[in-house]
Amino acid sequence: MLQSGTVGSRDFSNSTQPVAAACTAVVGLQWGDEGKGKIVDALAPTHDAVIRYNGGANAGHSVQVGGERYALHLVPSGILNPGKPAVIAGGVVVDPEALLKELDALSARGVDISGFVLSDRAHVVMPYHKDEDALRETMLKNAEGGEIGTTRRGIGPCYADKANRSSAIRVGDLIRPAVLRRKLVVIAPFKSAVLSAMGSGPRRYDPHQLAEQFERLGERLRPSITDTVYLLHDMVTNGSRLLFEGANATLLDVDHGTYPFVTASGCSVLGIPAGTGVPGVRIGDALGVMKAYSTRVGGGPFPTELQGDVAHRIRERGREYGTTTGRPRRVGWLDLVAVRYSAMINGVNALVVTLLDVLSGFEEIRVCTSYQTPSGETRRFLPDGDALKAVEPIYTTIAGFGEDLSTVRSERDLPPAARAYLALIEREVGVKVRYVGVGPDRQQTIALS
Ligand code: GDP
Ligand code: IMO
Ligand code: MG
Repeated sequence: MLQSGTVGSRDFSNSTQPVAAACTAVVGLQWGDEGKGKIVDALAPTHDAVIRYNGGANAGHSVQVGGERYALHLVPSGILNPGKPAVIAGGVVVDPEALLKELDALSARGVDISGFVLSDRAHVVMPYHKDEDALRETMLKNAEGGEIGTTRRGIGPCYADKANRSSAIRVGDLIRPAVLRRKLVVIAPFKSAVLSAMGSGPRRYDPHQLAEQFERLGERLRPSITDTVYLLHDMVTNGSRLLFEGANATLLDVDHGTYPFVTASGCSVLGIPAGTGVPGVRIGDALGVMKAYSTRVGGGPFPTELQGDVAHRIRERGREYGTTTGRPRRVGWLDLVAVRYSAMINGVNALVVTLLDVLSGFEEIRVCTSYQTPSGETRRFLPDGDALKAVEPIYTTIAGFGEDLSTVRSERDLPPAARAYLALIEREVGVKVRYVGVGPDRQQTIALS
């Protein structure tokens, strides 16, 4: 008979010990640009590393510190905390040229980038990925259903090659010139043929020119490249607290978003284990970031979308222009059916409501709490692109607040109508609001009790 706690020769006496769940996740609950960067920057001082786990240069995370504004695309927002490890994990797709440009620009502004680390398993966005992204969008432009409205950063084609395997290049390949060349000799003629056949004239990708170009980029990145899975696990074992920075957002998630109008990665908390190798049981705090209203860049259904004066006012007050592409963002009232769904998918235990200041001055604020569908009213979200197009939002109207919130720094100074708005969100979503954003600056975040 086996002794208690052992199976064969292995000792399992510790296997019933609870796993320490000291890590935090910050994810977007809408269609992106919820203010994740600002929250990550605010939480970074109480964590030991900040990790990007999905997406690529399609993200644009703004952080404002004392009048200085930073737009981060690939580099984790924790980089503004000097020396703190800022890790790009394996689930990210990396455009090395864009990354180096971003690091150089940060350095030139005096930011300490010594904490920057890049996974050898992240995938590389190549020029033909960006070309294919643009070609596909052009193809869709006149088709029924329309284009996705991608950022044209090559995200989808790069993730597709990751799944294809034989046409993928990983960051680790950039510092192994013979491997890089061997791969490109096969991939480049294949891409030349496929992209030429897609139209808009012949394309030729020269494997030797690409090998030289990317080898050079790899050499510059070499000091930052490592196995981030062991790095992160070693940190966790030593009791470090990791902060995972979601890019894009839950409604853009390739599995759970408004498909096909989504990005190509797992943007929710569910993407963290796959993107980093750190299991979900390590995440003890999942924060869902949501704007006090809704925005969306690119195509796809948007039930609460507004046009006209109200839209204009929100767009201008919220500076709703894309951080990555500069495109004006589509704006609408808060959709709590969507947020409720995203909170469920992510298992969030706290909400962060950002840009509440933008809503001040409206006599009334509308909030969508259920949908009218062809088969009746529902409180459930319909992530299928076509199904969501067919719903009509059902609104609850609540009194607005006239006060300027930008100078409010404590919960008790929030006007009662603003507090009532937050209470409505909590009731409808079933999750407490922990932080409220009243402006873009690092100082303009209020912690609620
Ligand atoms: P992210 O992609 O989720 O990091 O968000 P973005 O940085 O793309 O977009 C959020 C925008 O709102 C940025 O311009 C931020 O500076 C700004 N912002 C963030 N929080 C607040 C807030 O509470 N109030 C206001 N007025 N602006 C905010
Ligand atoms: P952050 O991290 C807003 C949108 C694009 C497009 C769709 C697919 O700043 O919140 P892609 O280039 O990823 O293939 O585009 O997804 N999109 C975002 N929208 N914020 C983002 O990131 C986004 N990342 C992708 O506009 O509709
Ligand atoms: Mg953004």
